[in-house]
Amino acid sequence: MARFADKRVLVTGAGQGIGFGVCRAFATEGARVGLNDVDDALARRAADQINAELPAPRVTAFPGDAADVPALQTMIDSFADQQGGLDILVANAGITRYVSFLDATPDIFDRVANVNLRGTYFAAQAAAKRMIAAGTPGRIILMSSIVGMKAFPNFSIYSVTKAAIQMMAKSLALELGQYNITVNAISPGATLTERVVREDPHYEQNWAQVTISGRVGYVEDVVAAILFLASREARQITGQNLVVDGGWSLRSPLPDDHPTMPEKQDYA
Ligand SMILES: NC(=O)c1ccc[n+]([C@@H]2O[C@H](COP(=O)([O-])OP(=O)(O)OC[C@H]3O[C@@H](n4cnc5c(N)ncnc54)[C@H](O)[C@@H]3O)[C@@H](O)[C@H]2O)c1
Repeated sequence: MARFADKRVLVTGAGQGIGFGVCRAFATEGARVGLNDVDDALARRAADQINAELPAPRVTAFPGDAADVPALQTMIDSFADQQGGLDILVANAGITRYVSFLDATPDIFDRVANVNLRGTYFAAQAAAKRMIAAGTPGRIILMSSIVGMKAFPNFSIYSVTKAAIQMMAKSLALELGQYNITVNAISPGATLTERVVREDPHYEQNWAQVTISGRVGYVEDVVAAILFLASREARQITGQNLVVDGGWSLRSPLPDDHPTMPEKQDYA
């Protein structure tokens, strides 16, 4: 029996990268999947690509802007109507803008916050309403980042949205637990996708150097964590932030001449 047989799963921002990997994995494990992306053609192509790998089509494209709250609510309702319910939401859509704090503008702030924060919040709300109305258990997984835990240059807007998502998971978990809905956040570290390679052709090697596991993260690493949080085995886990970063965020900077072990240990 497939782990997610006939579960109804909606994933935002899933035309490529991590979201695409999540859709493909759920569909491969038997789920019926709604694949959202703001890029209409990309959403349809991505759904077609996954369906072509399956014995029967299980993925439907839902193009639309995950920052447009009325459109988002319509999309979630359409998917739930079409599938007879919604079991799992992965609010993955997120954008990054590199800008120094002193050059940041209200427009940049609003766009990043609208997609990453407002869109995520209201996607979770629309999904929760459908889950509660159906009286079925639900799983909501929110996409945060290690950049929501560690400060990064030129990332202040992105970082504050991702930090807020970790608190969102706790707050929503608290209110939704009574309906048998869990809410958790995922915080990937540097994860190899088409986008990051476009931004830095040496991304894989560069991040391998500073990650304790000795390698960059792959989409499959994040996908595995999301499927775990969505699985029956994770039913007692809620309000948490699962870090998937190969240990990158564990390291604290030390002075150059800091001895790893003092020469003389005199504890007498
Ligand atoms: N790749 C990483 O290293 C990394 C690390 C930590 C967190 N994340 C987070 O994971 C998520 C996915 O990242 P990724 O690297 O796979 O991204 P990506 O840019 O490769 O893909 C994101 C997809 O989302 C779509 N999208 C963008 N804005 C949208 C909107 N308003 N509505 C619907 N779709 C939209 C894009 O068209 C794109 O297809 C994001 O929330 C990101 O912040 C990524």
